[in-house]
Amino acid sequence: MIIAIDGPAGTGKTTVAHAVAQELGFIYFDTGAMYRALTYGIISQQIDLENAESLQQFLDTHPVTIKTYLEEKNYYLGQENVTDKIRSESVTKLVSKVSSYAAVREKMVSIQRSLAEGVNAVFEGRDIGTVVFPKADLKVFLTADLEIRAKRRRLQNGESGAPLEQVAEQIASRDAQDAGRALSPMKAADDAIVIDTTELSIEEVVNKIINLKESAERDLL
Ligand code: DC
Repeated sequence: MIIAIDGPAGTGKTTVAHAVAQELGFIYFDTGAMYRALTYGIISQQIDLENAESLQQFLDTHPVTIKTYLEEKNYYLGQENVTDKIRSESVTKLVSKVSSYAAVREKMVSIQRSLAEGVNAVFEGRDIGTVVFPKADLKVFLTADLEIRAKRRRLQNGESGAPLEQVAEQIASRDAQDAGRALSPMKAADDAIVIDTTELSIEEVVNKIINLKESAERDLL
């Protein structure tokens, strides 16, 4: 069974997807982390995104893989463990641009589909229900007001970081790029269930998704 959880930054996707997977005994995949791993490599190796040949060569020689140690996911780019490097500000700033390239998306989607073979999994991202797994058994799209999303992100980053308005601006700019790109834009699939998490606790969202999964299973019988 595949559960797709899509939505913009700060809606609680990562926490919720992780908790749902844990509760159900499913494997959890954070596809944003995969785009971030590639972006880190593109920055550190100074790959010119406009040079299609060098971008393709980079993609062909730097597979993104995931290894799990003691329940902790580690993201590798080629042989390098990049887990601690993918949340930096420079990666966050460039990741939406990197993920708008066709060659990048093609590579990532193919890896994501192969990760899903023969397993029960929760995949979290932007295009999981629309493009990666259009036949997912359950599709959820999380939303929330921008202000609350910025507050949550700021709490995560530590209150001493960027001021709230700046965090909100960064999120809004990334949303606009992710939703506005020509290829696989972030959007709810027609058959996705939209959950507004503005007023909900993590636990409430997780319970809603578990209930939806149970009714999706009943429908399959
Ligand atoms: O979930 P996140 O904020 O870590 O994702 C980082 C970026 O990766 C996001 O701004 C857009 C891109 N992304 C994507 O294009 N498709 C996905 N399935 C997941 C993430």
